[in-house]
Amino acid sequence: MSLGRNFILRAATLKPVQAIVRKSFLFRPVVKRFIAGDTLEEALKASEELLQRGIRITLDYLGENTHSEAEALAAKATYLTMLSEIAKLESVQEFSRRTKSYPTGKLTSAVIEPLNISIKLTQCGLDQGTDFAEQNYRDVLTEAMKSSNFVRIDMEASEYTQPTMDMIERVRMDNPNTGTVLQSYLYRNDGDVATVIQWQARTRLVKGAYLEPEAVAYKDKSKVDEAYVRQAKLLLLDGNYPAIATQDEKIINELKKFVSERSIDKSGFEFQMLYGIRRDLQESLVREGFNVRVYVPFGDAWYPYFTRRLAERPANVMFIAKAMLKG
Ligand code: FDA
Repeated sequence: MSLGRNFILRAATLKPVQAIVRKSFLFRPVVKRFIAGDTLEEALKASEELLQRGIRITLDYLGENTHSEAEALAAKATYLTMLSEIAKLESVQEFSRRTKSYPTGKLTSAVIEPLNISIKLTQCGLDQGTDFAEQNYRDVLTEAMKSSNFVRIDMEASEYTQPTMDMIERVRMDNPNTGTVLQSYLYRNDGDVATVIQWQARTRLVKGAYLEPEAVAYKDKSKVDEAYVRQAKLLLLDGNYPAIATQDEKIINELKKFVSERSIDKSGFEFQMLYGIRRDLQESLVREGFNVRVYVPFGDAWYPYFTRRLAERPANVMFIAKAMLKG
């Protein structure tokens, strides 16, 4: 989108840059701002604090593109532990009682879970094989069903868009407790929004965070924003409990106006934001009676996630660069 964003995403792939970012203590406070901790325990602690503030959570175990089946199986084991630990949390039960988490929206009467998880198909082993990744994904869904929980597939770089859509199409038939993410920067996204509406699959709409070629994605930020608003409105009207995932206050205000004009029930959708970003906005939306969910990442494989966050706001990098020059 912006030159700064592309530059940072490209620079982040260079080995010397990786070494500096991973090791320099100057990055630590910024890493801490975006990542809830290295362990599940730390992530659950951060989640409980959010629940107390009336905010739902989706937990993300950081990591993508496994290099062997063993790595993917280890990631699956962590997903299973996350689900079983969530099921034990008293604060989750308490949140459900307090908020009466039942949407009255036209399409679903399912419980909207206070603490669900987001996973990546490349972490389930998609690069090792579609069937292998599908089995791992299905195993995670089976565990989630035991506690009526929900598992969302994050959307990754565009080479995975169609494989992800194909996987969701197959798996959702016998697993209603899953859904995915769609990215407005992709030219194909109007079609994908129509598809998930037809499937009535729960979908999170984002602008898109990866470095994509001009052949597949808008480079111009205003075009991405325009597509985002158009697609969010369709999901709000006809989607199944859509997640409007953005920190863009202007867009949020426009969608709040739309929802009010169309008398769309606040309980039929949720706003989502990333951990560490616009906490003020998260809280004001909760006060206004909107459902808000925060994406809480944890784990030591934070580098790719972290650099995508830096790229979204080049001012973050400038701040660190100045500190490095001074120090
Ligand atoms: P935009 O980037 O235009 O930012 C709008 C404003 O938000 C900025 O002006 C600033 O105030 C604030 N802001 C945004 N990012 C910031 C940052 N890093 N630091 C400080 N302030 C910041 N992407 C993807 O490709 N696949 C996925 O599965 C997901 N999943 C996902 C889940 C959730 C819950 C969210 C909120 C986002 C994602 N994303 C994602 C990321 C998404 O694609 C996008 O890159 C970011 O949300 C940033 O875009 P905004 O919509 O916030 O707008």
